[in-house]
Amino acid sequence: MNKSPIIALDFHSAEEAFRFLKPFDQSVNVKVGMQLYYKEGPEIVARLKEKGYGIFLDLKLHDIPNTVKSAMEVLAGFGVDLVNVHAAGGIRMMEAALEGLDKGTKAGLQRPSLIGVTQLTSTDERQVREEQLIGASLDQSVLHYAKLTQQAGLDGVVCSVLEASAISQTCGPDFFKVTPGIRLSDGAKNDQIRIARPEEARLSGSTHIVVGRAITAAQNPYAAYELITSQWEGLK
Ligand code: C5P
Repeated sequence: MNKSPIIALDFHSAEEAFRFLKPFDQSVNVKVGMQLYYKEGPEIVARLKEKGYGIFLDLKLHDIPNTVKSAMEVLAGFGVDLVNVHAAGGIRMMEAALEGLDKGTKAGLQRPSLIGVTQLTSTDERQVREEQLIGASLDQSVLHYAKLTQQAGLDGVVCSVLEASAISQTCGPDFFKVTPGIRLSDGAKNDQIRIARPEEARLSGSTHIVVGRAITAAQNPYAAYELITSQWEGLK
């Protein structure tokens, strides 16, 4: 998967997603999340793959190790580039996910990269303390999950831009820091809490950015994509 922004295809149907993608060429990366996948099934992935897009299949698996392993074996067979699990599932579950991916990857092909979700970018300090009953700060929890993820052999994490530089220092610059919650300066926060601009993502050590509504809900999505790409690449 190249380093261009990953567009979150959070649409109701394949038809809507493909209509949205019309102005974009095949070099873009797309993210298929639960909404589109549960509606359209593996066929949406096969159709996107046929067109040549880089694909992040964002299904955030979190179950017992054996179930995650079997599920990952299936996902590897789709030939996607990037998949993920919740790091909260534990080291054994993450190792099992890798085993499943290795098993399901067709001969001669590269296994999909695997990243762990640390804390969702919609999570705040209060939730960590009062709902998850974690006796550590949000930052400490994210860093802890990042270390476990690396220990389990994963390629990186999903995290907020605000945590990317601390994770870089601990886990190294090449460890994937895939960061959602990206907004242009005048953009709405929506339900995200830990948000940042594309250039902040670059300067903080993000390796990939995931952008949904800042592109999909823009008046001119292609222009928004170009602007975000140039800010991400440091050209503007
Ligand atoms: O529209 P927006 O840019 O906020 O979309 C962000 C996308 O990234 C959504 O598809 C969301 O599910 C996903 N995501 C996230 N936070 C994570 C992992 C994935 O926002 N920690």
